[in-house]
Amino acid sequence: MTVTIDRHGGIAVLTIDNPPVNALKTAVRARLAELVGMLDADPGVTAVLLCGAGKLFIGGADITEFDRPPESPTLPDMIARIEGATKPWIAAIHGQALGGGLELALGCHYRVAAPGATMALPEVNLGIIPGAGGTQRLPRLIGLAAAIPVIAERDLLDTDRAASLGLLDHVIDGPLTDGAVAFARNLTGLPLPVAERPLPDPGPAFWEMASARIARGAKGQSAPLAALAAVRSGVEQGFAAGLRIERETFLRLRASEEAAALRYLFFAERAAPRPANLRSIEPHPVRTVGVVGGGTMGTGIAAALRNAGLTVVLSERDAAALERGMIAVRGIFEAAARRGLITTAEAETRMAGVTGCVGLEGLAECDLVIEAVFEDLAVKRTVFADLGRLCRADAILATNTSYIDPRQIAEGLPAPERFVGLHFFSPAQVMKLLEIIPHPATSPETLATAFDLARRLGKVPVRSGICEGFIGNRILKRYRARAEAMLRDGTPHSAIDAAMRGFGHAMGPFEMQDMAGLDIAFLNREAARQRGEAIPEGPIELLVRAGRKGIKTGGGWYDYAPGDRTPRVSDEATQILAPLMGSSAALSSPQIVDQLIGAMAEEGRAILAEGIAASPADIDLVQVHGYGFPRTRGGPMFQTDRKAKP
Ligand code: 3HC
Ligand code: NAI
Repeated sequence: MTVTIDRHGGIAVLTIDNPPVNALKTAVRARLAELVGMLDADPGVTAVLLCGAGKLFIGGADITEFDRPPESPTLPDMIARIEGATKPWIAAIHGQALGGGLELALGCHYRVAAPGATMALPEVNLGIIPGAGGTQRLPRLIGLAAAIPVIAERDLLDTDRAASLGLLDHVIDGPLTDGAVAFARNLTGLPLPVAERPLPDPGPAFWEMASARIARGAKGQSAPLAALAAVRSGVEQGFAAGLRIERETFLRLRASEEAAALRYLFFAERAAPRPANLRSIEPHPVRTVGVVGGGTMGTGIAAALRNAGLTVVLSERDAAALERGMIAVRGIFEAAARRGLITTAEAETRMAGVTGCVGLEGLAECDLVIEAVFEDLAVKRTVFADLGRLCRADAILATNTSYIDPRQIAEGLPAPERFVGLHFFSPAQVMKLLEIIPHPATSPETLATAFDLARRLGKVPVRSGICEGFIGNRILKRYRARAEAMLRDGTPHSAIDAAMRGFGHAMGPFEMQDMAGLDIAFLNREAARQRGEAIPEGPIELLVRAGRKGIKTGGGWYDYAPGDRTPRVSDEATQILAPLMGSSAALSSPQIVDQLIGAMAEEGRAILAEGIAASPADIDLVQVHGYGFPRTRGGPMFQTDRKAKP
């Protein structure tokens, strides 16, 4: 049964029971629609209370239904029936009322909530706008200034704010159903229908400001501005027209590629932290984590661990390096405080949970140790040999290596079943991706612990098999190689970067190299040559030898004004690169995008065929969360899959 009925005297208590999030699937909507008529006709019922079973009220419409045409009764129809009922309906909210769940509550005549509940319209995260009256009813209840951030800008209302804005009629301390039944008993009639409440037009300046603000925060997505447009049409043309325009926009966006991509990522992101084969395995308890190496990665990892409440011991090789590392970690917390993300007191608390040590002896009591020292096999092996000797017998040992084969790093370790690769991305306290790389001997418990850690850190974990560069850097290599091949054929690098920006990337492949510094790639290539690999001289060598190492030297592929990261086309770089440039006609932007995404997807298919990645969605998660692939495009595998479909 998806909706249960309980009677408390004249009050009918309906409980939506559709685990895990009480989504409003067709069967729930049909049952509720049927109950409106039944309860209206029942002389023994004076009011109807609507509750959610389990930990929340309602998580929204059922997103799994969005790939099919809407089924009757639709959510707007069902809500209209409730709104038109002759007896009062009261939504009793606990946990969350999201999307269609909040819209259903807005269609009820009254709303009460338990303390600590959250009310939100997260539809724009899915590339859509509220489609069941949210853009029309919410402004009429709480005013435009408070409603627009909820509708178009991901603002969340907690119980206190919702009550102060008039969204809630009552806050219930104590048992929710009892309190709500008591509230219902005291009702004397129906309030003024929301549709009839006044909503004056605040004038063009208000709309312009809202529109500019929303456009700035939209991250290239079209839904936020479409949501504002729906609100505005309701103000200008009235409630009924607003509802119609909202629904049309919702259905149009629901069918868009952008919404399909965002839905795909929604489900992929939820599946990622809980691989089916690890669900029954208890992770190892982790409270204190050692981080070896206080450089770029070690400090970011330490901050990420502290942000999740774990205690950290940071190890460096000497006192001076340790001091630099501790200052860098402190700098991360202080920057968060300056940006208003945490209080200064909280920044201090976070720093107080990081202790430093020189050498590895101080890590003896850690539950987990993450190594982030130089990318050098001999250095890493020495570190692990010492860790194997010094750490607790049940401690898990992890490496953050980018390229070195974890099997080589773990050689000689006393307990390789407790060894795993944890590949964070820079800056580690920000980037969501965590590639988890099991060694052939890694135990299921160690792997389950790695996924559990990712969950606690709020990361998106993706399991990768062992190959050069794992999933992400391997695809990056292919992407860059394809871009360089295009350049050699005759397409200017500025055209290639512009095409990728047009597609939605924050920057193109050459701008990315300028940002990271060309010297790193140059040195890697030199090292590979010394190992005997045949790597031809290319544009990187030409640019670096001319002193153009990227932004840090004022120029690389582009020129940069001091203190300004805006790339400017460089005559000098053009001249340096001229001998390499082929004479074919330059490719168009769509051709560039097609070829680069195609190359990434082709590498992705090879990675799948070799069993390095478990699914195309995992590859797309790597691209979106580690390499700036635009969310609205889903990922390279999603893109080529869509193209392949008729
Ligand atoms: N429809 C279908 N399935 C949903 C869902 C939804 N609205 N929301 C969550 N799920 C599924 C998840 O995919 C996951 O499935 P799995 O166990 O098979 O992986 C399961 O429910 C549990 O989800 P979470 O892991 O996210 O559980 P949490 O407890 O961490 O979070 C939540 C619960 C806060 C409700 C979170 O799931 C969430 O934010 N859900 C999406 C809310 C949303 O976007 N609602 C708007 C939907 S669109 C809409 O309502 C349109 C309307 O305007 C017409
Ligand atoms: P880094 O050079 O900034 O930092 C390395 C730190 O390790 C230095 O501070 C050094 O003093 C310290 N160190 C060296 N030997 C040590 C020892 N025996 N004990 C304690 N500390 C020691 O290097 P970075 O960039 O932080 O990289 C570290 C690791 O992370 C490398 O394996 C790298 O491949 C990997 N990585 C780097 C990424 C990046 O973007 N920089 C991204 C993902 C992984």
